[in-house]
Amino acid sequence: MYKALITGITGQDGSYLSEHLLSLGYEVHGIVRRSSVFTTSRIDHLLNLKNFYLHHGDINDSSNIGSLIRAIKPDEVYHLAAQSHVGVSFEVPEYTGDVTGLGTLRLLNAIKNENLDIRMYNASTSEMFGGFESTQPQNEKTTFHPRSPYGTAKLYAHWIVVNYRSAFGLHASNGIMFNHESPRRGSTFVTKKISEGVAKYLKFAAPLNLGNLDAVRDWGYAKEYVEMMHLMLQQKEPDDYVIATGRGHSVREFATEAFSVAGVTVEWINAGINEKGIDSRNGKVCIEIDKKYFRPLEVDFLIGDAMKAQKNLGWQPKTDFYQLVKLMVESEL
Ligand code: NAP
Ligand code: GDD
Repeated sequence: MYKALITGITGQDGSYLSEHLLSLGYEVHGIVRRSSVFTTSRIDHLLNLKNFYLHHGDINDSSNIGSLIRAIKPDEVYHLAAQSHVGVSFEVPEYTGDVTGLGTLRLLNAIKNENLDIRMYNASTSEMFGGFESTQPQNEKTTFHPRSPYGTAKLYAHWIVVNYRSAFGLHASNGIMFNHESPRRGSTFVTKKISEGVAKYLKFAAPLNLGNLDAVRDWGYAKEYVEMMHLMLQQKEPDDYVIATGRGHSVREFATEAFSVAGVTVEWINAGINEKGIDSRNGKVCIEIDKKYFRPLEVDFLIGDAMKAQKNLGWQPKTDFYQLVKLMVESEL
């Protein structure tokens, strides 16, 4: 039986990846941080399964990571742990560099010291493309230009994976994933915030507060994307792959569509900080702008070109933007 170790198992992707690997017959191990409250709500339904094991640990504790690799002896390691919020990374830049950047190095070193045959997946990100001279759509050859402490830390993680692969022959691959969402998404990411906001508006008529409505993202469905993580590790050679739908939509479009799924047609009035979404049924404000949700730097436009993954891994995204918005809003309603 193959053994997989997942860092970040309590997160959105960790939960879907666990389900996927268990369905393929893997023994799944995960690292969980000690916390004063339970953080396992996304994987509670898996806790009693045989073949599913949790271990306390932290990606910032190299002795713990080394001991776990030694004790579990995984065939595959999926590295998903990160301080993953771009906006928050401006408030805790050093911490983000430590967890999201150096955390990846700690794991690579543990694998290198224990067993060079362990295969590793690293959660890279489209945030590394950032802005300015980036071409559209972005693929594996596009120049990186991160525009946040998070993007910069992930760029370090990405390149240290490439370097360990070249220097020590590790089978380590980077999935350069564009935004992927689901009902399990954390509430502070914009898609989940909007879908929860729609439900709240219907119940309490409380307006939803958002930041930059003009940012464009390539939003896919997380449940499908985790399958690519596994596929990358089944390839003869390790490599780096963009995973994306190839379609971009603005935050404004996401919000308009989300309210429409709930039967509310939004009319937009004014511009900039004074822009508002109006419920066309009754003239009430359903969306407002709050400048606290703007970031010191913004990534304006991310749309991915996943041709390489389509060709080498035989992958095609199945869920489109409209299906994704519908499934997220319906889950909240
Ligand atoms: P997420 O829901 O925020 O989950 C992050 C996970 O990392 C959680 O399990 C968290 O544990 C864990 N973690 C944080 N700091 C840790 C530490 N010091 N030691 C051990 N574990 C720690 O993120 P996600 O959306 O599932 O994303 C998974 C990975 O893919 C992340 O690396 C993210 O940066 C990257 N990524 C995500 C997307 C996307 O659109 N979702 C796109 C590209 C790349 P707690 O539960 O204890 O907080
Ligand atoms: N979070 C949030 N909250 N974002 C908002 C809001 C708001 O109220 N209003 C507007 N936005 C805009 C952000 O400024 C950003 O341009 C866009 O919505 C998406 O924000 P997030 O959902 O927070 O995601 P992200 O694109 O910054 O980062 C996510 O995707 C990356 C891949 O490109 C995260 O999952 C990262 O971990 C991941 O690497």
